[in-house]
Amino acid sequence: SENPTALIMIFGATGDLAKRKLFPSLYRLFKRGKLSERYCIIGVARRELTNSAFQESVRQSIEEAEGHHDDLNEFITHFYYHSHDVTDSSSYLALKTLANDLDTHYQLEGNRIFYLAMAPEFFGTIADHLKSDGLTDVDGFKRLVIEKPFGHDLPSAIELNNRLRQAFAEEEVYRIDHYLGKEMVQNIEVIRFANAIFEPLWNNRYISNIQVTSSEVLGVEERGRYYENSGALRDMVQNHMLQMVALLAMEPPIKLTDEEIRSEKVKVFRALKSLEGEAVKENFVRGQYGPSNKNNEPINGYRQEPMVKADSNTETFVAGKLIIDNFRWAGVPIFIRTGKKMATKSTKIVVQFKDIPMNLYYQHEKTLNPNLLVIHIQPDEGISLYLNAQKSGDTMNATPVKLNFSNNSVDHMNTPEAYERLLYDCMRGDATNFAHWDEVALSWSFVDKISQVWENQQAEQFPNYEAGTMGPKAADELLEKDGFHWWPVESGDYR
Ligand code: BG6
Repeated sequence: SENPTALIMIFGATGDLAKRKLFPSLYRLFKRGKLSERYCIIGVARRELTNSAFQESVRQSIEEAEGHHDDLNEFITHFYYHSHDVTDSSSYLALKTLANDLDTHYQLEGNRIFYLAMAPEFFGTIADHLKSDGLTDVDGFKRLVIEKPFGHDLPSAIELNNRLRQAFAEEEVYRIDHYLGKEMVQNIEVIRFANAIFEPLWNNRYISNIQVTSSEVLGVEERGRYYENSGALRDMVQNHMLQMVALLAMEPPIKLTDEEIRSEKVKVFRALKSLEGEAVKENFVRGQYGPSNKNNEPINGYRQEPMVKADSNTETFVAGKLIIDNFRWAGVPIFIRTGKKMATKSTKIVVQFKDIPMNLYYQHEKTLNPNLLVIHIQPDEGISLYLNAQKSGDTMNATPVKLNFSNNSVDHMNTPEAYERLLYDCMRGDATNFAHWDEVALSWSFVDKISQVWENQQAEQFPNYEAGTMGPKAADELLEKDGFHWWPVESGDYR
């Protein structure tokens, strides 16, 4: 078959990510004929499990996501289990023996993918051992897939990266940013570069501002321990939000190869104006959700969540104005906003075009609606373009009309699709939709400056937004200062 084959080792195989996303994704690839017939997966985790108990858990997680299928019986026979101690060489040597045997048995050509679906504190240790105990000694390719967070700030990210790079070259490291696996995030590039009507306008002559919102309804749930040390800035802005901005703002690549696209993205990060001191206060807003009530049901504030300090200063909301200091974007603010326990779960991009030179309609108090291009990332997927047209029967009036392309009507949010694409890309060796080290380093240095200012200053008024709302008032004022307002994401209708 055309599909590349590889032995896939999933570290953290009894964890949430493996169960909810990775196993179902592998099965979907299998169903769609995108997995080599010679596939083999080793689940690696601490607990003792027999192969068949592991296979049953794989079956269960796939059934939860995909329903029952008869071919699952056969599918799970390619899964093996290794009970592992991440700090013990003998455990790696046993894993190596198993890997070598399976490599021969399934004719995997010495190709290996090591997927670390687990707590980041072990990334370094595991990479060290993979090399020193000979697991990376293969004839084929070797690739390391790691989940976020990639470090906690720039220094820790550098340290982690240096360590990983002892065992893997940059092009062998696949840093997951699952937003890059989302269909409509990938579509940003296609919308921009496959249409004649957008790219000529995609600059500061025609665009007045861009708004990127990723709001969530859920709070921190059981992740308080992680989140207390992270906050929305590190959890969402450093990676997902800035990645979307880079795709929106980059120059057209000369080819659609991973290197070409990345080098354009890197230029955006380099042009991103770094904020310090007062400029952080002026351009960035942080927020934390407080308790509220919905239909007489009390909703926890952040400080009431498990594992969260009663006087926590961790932000659960960030809004910011990004300035990209280059020829294309000078003077065009890019506003981002993300948070937990907001009114709606939605990721949307709104590109607002400038007003036309002269308004022939509504010459008195009313203004024309600006043209808007809305990219709906989730839960609905699609594109809407708002134009002005004549209101039927009323020649003196223009009214906004919406041209709508809806990719689908189902809720794609919690499907394994993003992971399906990313796993497939990794097997094919296409790193386009993964975060390159240069991008990670530059985005940390941008974010670090903001967190340093925030760390040294108590939040004046925390919590400052009610759970279930679109965030603190200051986030609205941020746009008002520039004469803009957030286009609503709840209704999805912008007229
Ligand atoms: C993760 C963050 O990277 O992204 C989570 O750690 C967040 O806190 C999640 O909830 C959001 O992803 P999605 O795909 O649900 O928008």
